Amino acid sequence: AQAAKALPIHESAMKHVTGEAVYIDDMPEWPNELHVATGKSTEAFADIVSINLDKVKAYPGVVDVILQADIPGDPDVSPVLSGDMLLAGDFVHYIGQPIFAVAATSLRAAKQAVELAEITYQSKAATLHPKDSLTRQEFVLPTHTISCGDSKTALAQAEHTLSSDLYIKGQEHFYLEGQISVAVPNEDGGVQVFASSQHPAEVQKLVARVLDLPVAQVLVETRRMGGGFGGKESQAATLGCMAAVLAVRNRCPVKYRMPRQDDMVQTGKRHDFWNSYQVGFTQQGEIVAAEYDMVGKCGCTADLSDGVVDRAMFHADNAYFLPNARISGYRGKTHTVSNTAFRGFGGPKGVLLAENIIEEIACKVGKDPLDIRKLNCYQTGKDTTPYGQQIEEDVLLTLIEELEVSSDYRARREAIKAYNKQSPFLKKGLALTPVKFGISFTSKHLNQGGALVHVYTDGSVHVSHGGTEMGQGLYTKVAQIVAKAFGIDYQRVNVGSTRTDKVPNASPTAASAGTDLNGMAALDAANTIKERLREFAVEHFAISAEDFAIVDDVVSLGTDSMGFPEFIKLAYMNRVSLSSTGFYKTPKIGYDRKAAKGRPFLYFANGASVSEVIVDTLTGEYKVTQVDILHDVGDSINSHIDIGQIEGAFVQGMGWLTSEELSWDDKGRITTNSPANYKIPTSADVPEKLTVKLFDRANGEETVYRSKAVGEPPLMLGISVWCALKDACASVCDYQLSPPLSAPATPEAVYYALQAAKAYQ
Ligand code: MTE
Ligand code: MOS
Repeated sequence: AQAAKALPIHESAMKHVTGEAVYIDDMPEWPNELHVATGKSTEAFADIVSINLDKVKAYPGVVDVILQADIPGDPDVSPVLSGDMLLAGDFVHYIGQPIFAVAATSLRAAKQAVELAEITYQSKAATLHPKDSLTRQEFVLPTHTISCGDSKTALAQAEHTLSSDLYIKGQEHFYLEGQISVAVPNEDGGVQVFASSQHPAEVQKLVARVLDLPVAQVLVETRRMGGGFGGKESQAATLGCMAAVLAVRNRCPVKYRMPRQDDMVQTGKRHDFWNSYQVGFTQQGEIVAAEYDMVGKCGCTADLSDGVVDRAMFHADNAYFLPNARISGYRGKTHTVSNTAFRGFGGPKGVLLAENIIEEIACKVGKDPLDIRKLNCYQTGKDTTPYGQQIEEDVLLTLIEELEVSSDYRARREAIKAYNKQSPFLKKGLALTPVKFGISFTSKHLNQGGALVHVYTDGSVHVSHGGTEMGQGLYTKVAQIVAKAFGIDYQRVNVGSTRTDKVPNASPTAASAGTDLNGMAALDAANTIKERLREFAVEHFAISAEDFAIVDDVVSLGTDSMGFPEFIKLAYMNRVSLSSTGFYKTPKIGYDRKAAKGRPFLYFANGASVSEVIVDTLTGEYKVTQVDILHDVGDSINSHIDIGQIEGAFVQGMGWLTSEELSWDDKGRITTNSPANYKIPTSADVPEKLTVKLFDRANGEETVYRSKAVGEPPLMLGISVWCALKDACASVCDYQLSPPLSAPATPEAVYYALQAAKAYQ
């Protein structure tokens, strides 16, 4: 019997742990390289009255100082719409906004020089809270509403109703490698940019725009990022553009690396959301009507907020059927940094809203929240989303029930109730929360992927594709896909860095679609070459097409066979083309924005997690004691990588809802601007008992080897921790009330929820 082949580990795993993986700041510096720092606005919303940069220019080591007017092309570096200026012009609209940039012989000199600017402002009244943007009707983009049935009538006729609001705070990306780009001018007036970006093609396009160059004169390369998490989808371009402008002006390489504090002040985060909701339900706890108003804190410009707010709306149902619903999403404008993509892209805010409502309904009707979840879960007959997409795969309920059994949910619920009865101060909480996450970009045109595959005469294979590697294992998966397509060993396949001159016009690596799009494109390229090889074999060896096969590096040619390298050499000698591009576009999808109906997603990725917590009711401090996860990745391409993604996403989601708290003062200044005052989870916060299992079922759609996207959906599994904390608080008043709990549920927030529960008693 053939021994099971070991799964490849992440292509850079060893280099990551030994420190040999080269990030942009590890690249050797040129002797004449300059370093960038920016002068920042100290006002949230103001006209600039005067700027005096004499002292900045005179500072030792300063080589160049630029303002918006010095940008040769268009200073607008917006990803989709407009308004994101590389440098501010006449006015500023957030504290920290770059007004001028300095290139100096050292980063230290650049940083010290920018402090010497003398800028005067005429301040205006700033809007800082998303709720205020709703009241003042200040939006970065028009409101969108999705509806089904007649929510107004259904609400009026419902047996029970609930109405309240939930403020959900954002999240700092805290990628370990901060934002960075290095630009190197070339002899033709063009420029090469090394960017830590999830979207090299957009960096290329925007560098061309600010320099007023043809896109073809700009080359952008990304080998890897030390994490992106959505924070380098649009906003990494600013660094590439700034470095490129200064590099071309000064005819020397320029590095723009944001120190962590600048990064936390000057780059957008996950959106805060202010949600108000009204739900109607039966005595059994079945939801009959829902009306949600969801206001995203978009910050000062649109950036990617249209997609973010849309996705929040598309996920406000989460796993639950809403027969009558109105979901309105507002793109609130605030005078704060423009918020951007963050793992889940709005989805987590919708899902948290839905799960919060379930917890509240359960207390109201006196049932276990899991029963309310199962009752409302999408299932046959209850399978249309508010935006009209059918849930075609009937897996959610099965998955939930499988986890209910494997996690021993019911027995643990009984044990927790008994424990809480006899424990006066320590209380336990439990929650099983599902996630259903739509896969595809909600902007249809982005759902395309490209690849370029070369086979060399020794049988080694090189793959380029449009996707970027940020630690998620995309390069490994694409190499596996190509190896499998050719029937050769994974070690033969090399995935190089992502370059805009290899695959043009690539989409961002985002929406978890990296493998779906680029894996399919690479498969297409490999299959094209394999077909040529088959045709060659048929002719050369006079065999039938069916007699040709490549398995485990051996090429079968009817009665004959030979090794893959030998066969490739023969094909080369017979002038077979051994290189091909590949392309893929996602089928079936489309959303009619006017009608607010359609099929925005090719399929859904599903999962569920059970979290157990213990809370000290005197202080609000708590610990997550056990987590069990069951997650749907279709037919897994690499289960090690998938489980790693699930674990990481869970912990990141848990961090968002527990220890990570962003705060701004009343002037609009962010006060959480360093690791000293913003707490991401550490290894010590990972629950001791954390079990991850893969739900073993092929994707119903024809994705690459029937796999499913994994990058973002499991982040929302962290919501079970928040719900378990809410459950522990509810135990204080014998589950009569699910007390309001802030997000994140810091110990302080849990303390206040406990006070509300105690007061109810
Ligand atoms: N995993 C690691 N290690 N680092 C990251 O930055 N980003 C996440 C997810 N997993 C991220 C990650 C986000 S926001 C997305 S959209 C996906 O990876 C993108 O990659 P994929 O489409 O190849 O899954
Ligand atoms: Mo991920 S937020 O789509 O980059």
